[in-house]
Amino acid sequence: MKKITFILLFASFSHAYSQKTQGLALTPPLGWNSWNTFQTNINEQLVKDIADVMVSSGMKDAGYEYLVLDDGWMAMERDKNGNLVADPKKFPHGIKAVADYVHSKGLKFGLYNCAGTKTCAGYPGTRGYEYQDARYYAAHDVDYLKFDWCNTEGINAKEAYTTMSKALATTGRPIVFSMCEWGQNKPWEWAENVGHLWRTTGDISNIFAGTKDMGTWHALGVLKIIDLQKGLRKYAGPGHWNDPDMLEVGNGLTEAENRAHFSMWCMLAAPLIAGNDLRNMSTETKNILINKDAIAVDQDKMGIEGFAYAEKDSVETWLKPLQNGDWAVCFLNRSTHPVSFEMNWKEKPIFDSLSKASLDAEKNSYQIFNIWSKKTEGTTNHTFKATVGAHDVVMLRLKKEN
Ligand code: GAL
Repeated sequence: MKKITFILLFASFSHAYSQKTQGLALTPPLGWNSWNTFQTNINEQLVKDIADVMVSSGMKDAGYEYLVLDDGWMAMERDKNGNLVADPKKFPHGIKAVADYVHSKGLKFGLYNCAGTKTCAGYPGTRGYEYQDARYYAAHDVDYLKFDWCNTEGINAKEAYTTMSKALATTGRPIVFSMCEWGQNKPWEWAENVGHLWRTTGDISNIFAGTKDMGTWHALGVLKIIDLQKGLRKYAGPGHWNDPDMLEVGNGLTEAENRAHFSMWCMLAAPLIAGNDLRNMSTETKNILINKDAIAVDQDKMGIEGFAYAEKDSVETWLKPLQNGDWAVCFLNRSTHPVSFEMNWKEKPIFDSLSKASLDAEKNSYQIFNIWSKKTEGTTNHTFKATVGAHDVVMLRLKKEN
């Protein structure tokens, strides 16, 4: 009997020990990542400038916290002890100096590597160095690791990501673990206790509809990525998020498309990782990225991903249950012309079986707050009528009245 208790105790201890660091990313992470604009053209000055502007633009106040360097921060070789080395030309004072600067601004710092033998851009990968690299990140005060999937031929994704997750947890430093295997191995089915977020698709591109031919592969437009989220909402929640990839807001989409892209990422409870050049973004782009009411939808503590409720005339109605009985509603116009629509809230009660939340405008009344115009537009006692522009959204918060 005693022996069995011991075995059980040991099993539960080793299970707890084998898990990722808990208590992180209880709402989807917000931050900035270098890849979408700079690819491997990154350096110390850029990091300092971006950290400064994250503070001065109001992004930090709006909740953006992580500044993450993607591929290209390393030298081409490890040192003679097998340790990673920052590119000495790009980062003449090393990575710790950069991390210190970011921290001095009240922000957190992230790095990138890859589960394979090399990163996608050909820098040293982590395969076989998981614990050593985890110690490097902890020693350099890294708070976030994005872990990619290039050059991994023949290895098992669950095992590779679990090994890195354990290695990070073993350091004792809280490090958000961002898994980036492009949704190829259905991480949503097994990664709840491995990573804090996992990519659900291939790479995003700065186009709204369709895909972009990249030679050997196709990058995905915003609508394609939205469509690929179907069926995944039940896997997301506090501490473990579906990641439909980083934002392309401010990278060439129209203002309407930027707004629609951002709104939909908020409806999806997606990590909000900006990828534009914050140093010279337009006021329109900034105002989209720091819309606190949209961000509040994303960051709602219940952590329930939204769902597509209806579609008519190319306008999709998305709903997201929020705390205190509130709801976010987003009308997404997929077409290239404006569409008028209406919503009779009283037509039938809406029930979300995942969260058990209901939107019942017969039983309750909700005040309608327009998240982009910032106007209150009556209550759900009346049919809501509006026109949504091409590739644009109308996004509302229904505030439950007692
Ligand atoms: C891709 C990844 C991108 C970026 C790039 C860097 O695999 O999906 O987000 O990290 O690698 O090479």
